[in-house]
Amino acid sequence: MDRRTILSWLRQNDPRRLNELWTVADETRRREVGDQVHLRGLIEFSNYCARQCAYCGLQAPHVGVERYRLTKSEILTCVQQIVDLGYGTVVLQSGEDPGTKREWLADVIRNIKSNTPLAVTLSAGERCDDDFAAWREAGADRYLLRFETSNLELFQRIHPPLTGTGKSCAGSETEHPRVAILRRLRKMGYEVGSGVMIGIPGQTFEDLADDIELFGSLELDMIGCGPFIPHPATPLGARSDSPACAHSAPTRDQRPDDQVPADELMTYKVIALARLVCPRANIPATTALATLNRSEGRTLGLQRGANVVMPNVTPARYRAAYDIYPDKACVVETAEACRERLAVQLAALGRTVGCGRGDSRSHALRTQALRG
Ligand code: 5AD
Repeated sequence: MDRRTILSWLRQNDPRRLNELWTVADETRRREVGDQVHLRGLIEFSNYCARQCAYCGLQAPHVGVERYRLTKSEILTCVQQIVDLGYGTVVLQSGEDPGTKREWLADVIRNIKSNTPLAVTLSAGERCDDDFAAWREAGADRYLLRFETSNLELFQRIHPPLTGTGKSCAGSETEHPRVAILRRLRKMGYEVGSGVMIGIPGQTFEDLADDIELFGSLELDMIGCGPFIPHPATPLGARSDSPACAHSAPTRDQRPDDQVPADELMTYKVIALARLVCPRANIPATTALATLNRSEGRTLGLQRGANVVMPNVTPARYRAAYDIYPDKACVVETAEACRERLAVQLAALGRTVGCGRGDSRSHALRTQALRG
């Protein structure tokens, strides 16, 4: 699929034409990854963050968040719950937390890998290669790091660099830092996942078409995309007349009709197109999508290209503090209730709960090819 076709789908608003896109995405999903929906148990293990991302409620300057870090034993209790629920993967997610020490997390990973059959996915932000290598060595299987936008100028505008440490792990200044990291993660043998926010202020249709092309050229194993949801305590979520907003408002010459809307329909388009550019990828119907449409967002995502759901198994008392955006879906539901509800929803769609780890088929084929 070429860039022009991607762009024209992104601008398409005729419901009949869009039905064609949903159909071809759903057929591709069924043919390439089947009817199983893999469930990944998500543990948000720390909400400390050293960064100041202009959209995220966990950004360091946001003092209104109660910060927490789970202990090893709290994490392992959640992990046992994931095994008991029958899920095949644990996702360990956090802010970019310097308090997460290399050896500590390596020990958690070793513990999970030696006591359970779970695949381990990490999502802990931009870290040094030595950290990534140690965690891979400890048994981590997959790493998620959204590049958020492939437009480097926009990326830099909303991701101020880490200050104070004097060291950067990211590499050259002309390459997108997260794309560089994704390439290194792949070399280390991780299954690699990325994705974008849809409708970031300043993001154009051309930018989003580039993002989707990049999914294809990176041959991503996992692609997570959700709508941008304004958080009032951040520069990008502050009211446009407030001073907090001024420094990250779009600065490029941008016509208003170039701005990608941060809405549900655009999210389905991106999920469907992601399925077409990376047919074998594991693609979640994200919580941000479910936040825009609580009753149907997940199921519509699953019918338009997605094949994964990531139920939250973080202990209830910490959930609300993982405040990346407001009114997050599934903050109060228990893990068991979520499991029950999903089983019913999936059955109604004619889909089944995935068995086993739900590894990336493209990763398996790529490593087989390498072995010759
Ligand atoms: N709206 C939508 N998604 C957000 N994320 C962070 N803040 C927001 C927001 N305000 C997403 C980012 C990040 C992921 C963990 O959550 O894409 O990579």
